[in-house]
Amino acid sequence: MMLGEESTSADYWKQCGDEALAHGLKGVIMMGAHWDARGNALEVAMNPSPGKSPVAYVHPSKYVDYRLVPDLEGGERCQSLLRENGFNVSANTKFEWIHDTYLILIRMFPAGCPPTTIVSMNARFDPHFHMRVGAALRPLRHEGYLLIGTGGAVHNLYRNVWAPMLKHRDNFAQETAPEGWALGFRQSVEDVMTANRGPALRRGVTRLMKHPQYRDAHATDDHFMSACFVAGAAGDWEDVEQEGGRLGAETWELTNMCNSQFTLGSWRGGQSVSAAA
Ligand SMILES: [Fe+2]
Repeated sequence: MMLGEESTSADYWKQCGDEALAHGLKGVIMMGAHWDARGNALEVAMNPSPGKSPVAYVHPSKYVDYRLVPDLEGGERCQSLLRENGFNVSANTKFEWIHDTYLILIRMFPAGCPPTTIVSMNARFDPHFHMRVGAALRPLRHEGYLLIGTGGAVHNLYRNVWAPMLKHRDNFAQETAPEGWALGFRQSVEDVMTANRGPALRRGVTRLMKHPQYRDAHATDDHFMSACFVAGAAGDWEDVEQEGGRLGAETWELTNMCNSQFTLGSWRGGQSVSAAA
C-alpha cells in the first residue's frame, strides 16, 4: 500500500535519508508497529541475516532484492541501555524484518541500508512504557544515530474504505473526504507533535490515548506506540532548546487512514528523531 507506492511521504523519507547521510549518520534505531514482546518483555532484533516477511498489496519486486544490514553492535548498545533503565530485554536472533521498517529504509536509503537496529514493542501497549523505551535510547542520538518510530496517526483497519483497493488496487482513491473522527484525531496529533517540546511532548503524546476519538482512530494500540517511543526519545528537558516537531508530509489512504510524517530535532544540533506516524 502506501509504503510501496509513490507518494509525497515517500519523497519526504528520501529527503530525510539524504540529509541523514550528509550528516554522517552512524545508524538507525527503529520501533515499528507489527512486532511486540509478551509479558513485561522487550526484544531487540539480533538476527545476523534477517529475511523479510511479505507485505500484502505490494509487489515483491519493490523489496526482495534490498539487502538489510542489522546493526548487531548497536543492538548490544540498545540492550545495555534498556537493561540499565530497568527493562526486561533480550536478543531475538530469529526475527525477520517486517514491512513497517524495511519499506521505509528502502525509501530513505535506496542506495543501501545503513546499520539498523529494530526494537520491539511490548504487547501490553502501555504508552508510558514505550515513552520510557525512547527515553532510555535517547543518548544514542548524540552519537549520530537516527531514531525512527513508524506507526500511524490515524490507523483503524476496520474503518478504512477498502473497495477501491480491492477493485482497482487504488489505495489513494478518496471517493469521499475522510470522516470527522479521523480528521479530528489527526488534527490533535499534529497539534501535540508540533506545539509541544520537552516533557510537555511526552505528556501530550501519551495523553492522546485518552482522547475521545482515540479508539475510533486506533481500533488497536499497535500503531500508536511508536509515537510514544519518539516522544520519549525527543522529550527531554534538553530538547526544549531543540527545534520543535515539524509535519514534513502527509498521505491519506483508504479514505480514513492518515500517515503523517513528523521530524523532531535537527542535524544541525547533531541529532535527529523522526516519527513516521
Ligand atoms: Fe502497519
